[in-house]
Amino acid sequence: MSGGGTIDFEIRPSSQPVSATEREALLANPGFGRIFTDHMVTIRYAEGKGWYDARVEARAPIPMDPATAVLHYAQEIFEGLKAYHRADGKIGLFRPEANAARFVESAHRMAMAPLPTELFLGSIRQLIDIDRAWVPTSTEGSLYLRPFQYASEAFLGVRPAREYLYVLIASPVGPYFAGGVKPVTIWVSNDYTRAAPGGTGAAKCGGNYAAGLAAQAEAAEHGCDQVVYLDAAERRYIDELGGMNVFLVRKDGTMITPPLNGAILPGITRDSVITLAKEQGYSVEERPVSIDEWRDGARSGEIVEAFACGTAAVLTPIGTVRGTEGDFLMGDGTAGQVATALRAHLVDIQFGRRPDPHGWTTTV
Ligand code: PLP
Ligand code: COI
Repeated sequence: MSGGGTIDFEIRPSSQPVSATEREALLANPGFGRIFTDHMVTIRYAEGKGWYDARVEARAPIPMDPATAVLHYAQEIFEGLKAYHRADGKIGLFRPEANAARFVESAHRMAMAPLPTELFLGSIRQLIDIDRAWVPTSTEGSLYLRPFQYASEAFLGVRPAREYLYVLIASPVGPYFAGGVKPVTIWVSNDYTRAAPGGTGAAKCGGNYAAGLAAQAEAAEHGCDQVVYLDAAERRYIDELGGMNVFLVRKDGTMITPPLNGAILPGITRDSVITLAKEQGYSVEERPVSIDEWRDGARSGEIVEAFACGTAAVLTPIGTVRGTEGDFLMGDGTAGQVATALRAHLVDIQFGRRPDPHGWTTTV
């Protein structure tokens, strides 16, 4: 039982799991992040002791001292990945080691104890094993896994905590956007930025999302589904959306996506899309792209498609881009061909319907 790695999970199955009938009813229309499985995994950390007390137990509220550090200074990180019901009947995961690695990176940025990869991956296997019946069998339904870790020490001084709690919960999901795979409308925020150079933009910490809620509310007031953030220094270059990376497609087939500049999240979907696109002969430019280049390109017909990508949203076409300088439309506002084909390719790999030459998928 140390920070180094292998510890056994104590398994205490729930004494009151949801009945099969009720579960089927819930799985019929899960939405996103509304319903949860019967169990959770918890692992504790204390300075000097390392990671200990790994448990699989009934999902339940976690009692908290009012002085728990995360409630005051937001020392918290999370991940998001999905388990898929595959064509061969097995449960598949997509690049979970990449999430484990990003979780460690996020922990370093937030001055937290990093969770060893084998515990991250082990926790996922344990939870899927016990909550297997909750993985949707519907087309494109999946079990969204949410690992997170927070400062659990009760202490009000401002310094890295000496105790952490890692928790894994799971939520059966359908599409992230209520409209399904239809193109989304996005809002260009002039008032708010998401991340500054040297800030926490490349970490997956809850604070980034809290900071984006006012912008998201502004977007919703303007009838938009998501915010696209501009860089904090010049308010000129596009960074990413609140919870997704972004790609533009030119009429010659070149794809453009903002570079990993330290202010955007290094998306695993982004990386996978770049690999698949290059394999299919597209050239992919990772470079700064300004909102002006996007707007002008869309209006002149040079930029024909745009899409957002991430675990929750998979690959979602962008239809209308709205901002204080007026709207512009991508193509004719319907889902573009490139986005549609790449999405199908990616999803087919994730669901085990197509060969996986990169070794991205594993089964549980
Ligand atoms: N950008 C942000 C801010 C996100 O929250 C996410 C979702 O995790 C992504 C991008 C996409 O990352 P990934 O493809 O690893 O899910
Ligand atoms: C994910 O795609 O996993 C995210 O964390 C994005 C969030 C908006 C749900």
